[in-house]
Amino acid sequence: MTATWARTKSIDDVLEQGRVEPGGEAEPGRLKRTLGPLGLMGFGIGVVIGTGIFTLTGVEAKESAGPAVTLSFLLAGVAAALAALCYAELSSGVPAAGSAYTYAYATIGELAAWIIGWDLLLEFALGAATVARGWSSYLQDLFNLPTSLFGEKAPVNVGALALVLVLGVVAVVGVKQSSRVTGVLVAVKVAICVFVVVAGLFYVKGANLHPYVPAARASEAKTGISQPLVQAVFGLDPTAFGIAGVLSAAAVVFFAYTGFEAVANLGEETRDPGRDLPLGLLGTLGIATVLYIGVSFVVTGMVDYRQLDVGAPIAKAFDAVGAGWASTLVSIAAVAGLTSVTLVDLVTMPRIFFAMGRDRLLPPRFAELHPRYGTPVLATVITTAMVAVLATFVKLTVLADLVSIGTLFAFVVVAIAVPVLRHTRPQLERPFRVPLSPFVPVLSALFCVYLMMNLSVETWLRFLVWLLLGLVVYVTYGRRNAKLAAAS
Ligand code: ALA
Repeated sequence: MTATWARTKSIDDVLEQGRVEPGGEAEPGRLKRTLGPLGLMGFGIGVVIGTGIFTLTGVEAKESAGPAVTLSFLLAGVAAALAALCYAELSSGVPAAGSAYTYAYATIGELAAWIIGWDLLLEFALGAATVARGWSSYLQDLFNLPTSLFGEKAPVNVGALALVLVLGVVAVVGVKQSSRVTGVLVAVKVAICVFVVVAGLFYVKGANLHPYVPAARASEAKTGISQPLVQAVFGLDPTAFGIAGVLSAAAVVFFAYTGFEAVANLGEETRDPGRDLPLGLLGTLGIATVLYIGVSFVVTGMVDYRQLDVGAPIAKAFDAVGAGWASTLVSIAAVAGLTSVTLVDLVTMPRIFFAMGRDRLLPPRFAELHPRYGTPVLATVITTAMVAVLATFVKLTVLADLVSIGTLFAFVVVAIAVPVLRHTRPQLERPFRVPLSPFVPVLSALFCVYLMMNLSVETWLRFLVWLLLGLVVYVTYGRRNAKLAAAS
């Protein structure tokens, strides 16, 4: 007999839950299938390009990697691409809401699924809160609003709070409407990144890019629990810059790629998952990687990395070279772009609640859909409330590092699920297959673990506390009430 924690959901049940005639009307209690590949990429880019490139580029170039922050973006992009291949195989073969959570439930077992679901809630709640705070800072910068209410210096970040509440209402009204709003914002965001690369190239000075990897030096900021785990474990001297600096920056800017899995979460709302999901995932990531490398190259080429601004580095780089008009344009686009990231996070998170509620690992009311809007309304309201509290009171950098660690952890599980599922369900139809499995999935998992080890000890501690809290909820509620408990 299988132990409780290792019981798995059958793939056929998962598929049955998600089976709705493509293009047809959803049955009551099911999500509607309205999205195609472009809609998915819109969602993907909407959630991916945000605070990572607009804000973290400056901090990481200045404090960790110098001009080689482009290399950090490339490394993080490779890790994300490997994970995207794994996601593409699983999400096209098992197109269901909840993504990594659902795959883990069908392959590794209930406890792993619970941990992943709980972890994804952290990722999307904190992701939305991080970006809402970034939005508040850019808005403050653009209109010179009071710093007591907007931006990182505000004890109660009223700007971030207002944004979350307004977008929470949009998320309740429905994915199609949200997708339309997002579409406009996404176009603005991509256009501004292209603009930064093209206009910025005229101001790039070769001297700013040398040395490309600044020599490693001792860093007081990276001692104690603030140092990367890898330094603490191997007793290395706390350093910034050098190759170690590039790697630790890669782990932090990994944040810039988080969220692309939101596309996989929309499996049940996709018209032709076998074709559209891989296209949506890989397309999203390819576009983001090219834009990030271009933007970070140009920005570190325009300004000496030591002089970069840590709040609004891209806008301030244009100011520094005397192109104030371009700076204002960038700030406007950042405000618009960060709005779309927050919105997609707010739309995605309730779907994880939805999947967990449907399996009765959380109360079933989370899986109830609004009769008119077809969205998981209770889950969306709770999500919005959680995000509002976090965005109002917790610092941006603390939130961003936690998002990175949570996402990397989920990617490790997704990578492991690929070979496990090939072994347990060799006959399952896989419209997309990861090349060279199990080599590529194993490489993906190891890469993610290594990046996680480059995050700070305190980030690890916070993450472990969240997981422990989750275990308590699982043991006291989920384990007993799970649908699978009734079936066994
Ligand atoms: N990846 C998203 C960003 O960079 C969360 O803001």
